[in-house]
Amino acid sequence: MGKTNLALNLGYALYKANHSVMLMDCDIGLANLDILLGLVPEKNIHDLLQPGIAPRDVILHIEKNGFDFLPAASGIPDLLEMDEDLQSILFEKMNVMLGAYDFLLLDLGAGISKTVLSFTAITHERIVVITPEPTSLTDGYAMIKVMNSEYGIKNFHIVVNQVASQDEGKRSFERLSAACQKFLGLTVQYLGFIRSDPAMPEAVVRQVPLLKLSPKSAAARDILALAVKLKRMRGERLPLLAEQNVLQNFPVNNVE
Ligand SMILES: Nc1ncnc2c1ncn2[C@@H]1O[C@H](COP(=O)(O)OP(=O)(O)O)[C@@H](O)[C@H]1O
Ligand SMILES: [Mg+2]
Repeated sequence: MGKTNLALNLGYALYKANHSVMLMDCDIGLANLDILLGLVPEKNIHDLLQPGIAPRDVILHIEKNGFDFLPAASGIPDLLEMDEDLQSILFEKMNVMLGAYDFLLLDLGAGISKTVLSFTAITHERIVVITPEPTSLTDGYAMIKVMNSEYGIKNFHIVVNQVASQDEGKRSFERLSAACQKFLGLTVQYLGFIRSDPAMPEAVVRQVPLLKLSPKSAAARDILALAVKLKRMRGERLPLLAEQNVLQNFPVNNVE
């Protein structure tokens, strides 16, 4: 729980740090980023499959100059189990888009559908969000296992959401990490934790990103720390970006 809010707020943090960000709702089973944003999209990712429709016809602007949103479509079965032809149309159009943004964030559903898996496979980094509940740990483990066996992906970052303390986050991560190590021979990375915080449901109700509504709340600070790490990871990939101190414009300081 918390994937969509994490994607939205990471996107907002990176945008505030002067990056151009595209947020893509890829939770085709349960698209709800539009609701979190209070937007009513006219077109969605499904329309991208039509010839003559370009990403710019579908994209909405969350913020001016650099925070864009590509809506999904709920409950369209042919998207859930797309065949390879449709997938390649979509990926080709997405590829053009990829070049235009510093960050492309994909909000994927929890379900292990073919489409979700293939979206996941095209990303550079993958963040698996779990909570301390045992059921969430097993869901997270199942996702990693399938991604690993179907696509040979070995690199996963873990975020533990809705923790009571830093310790609880670390303990939950260690449980998942031990299972991945023992049964899959995989070393997963700890990206960090997000505390349980009433400011989060409040932001959902107000349809405003938490980092915009309550930038000093506990959960907002935690997500900002995750954004800093993500930016750093990206910096390692792209040495040019690392030279820009890009989080300097964000209003919250002592984040780490
Ligand atoms: N850190 C948190 N603290 C408190 N409530 C949270 C937190 N993260 C998520 N929630 C609650 O969980 C709900 C679902 O979050 P969402 O991001 O939509 O999850 P997912 O996309 O994984 O289904 C939110 O509307 C919010 O009420
Ligand atoms: Mg979601």
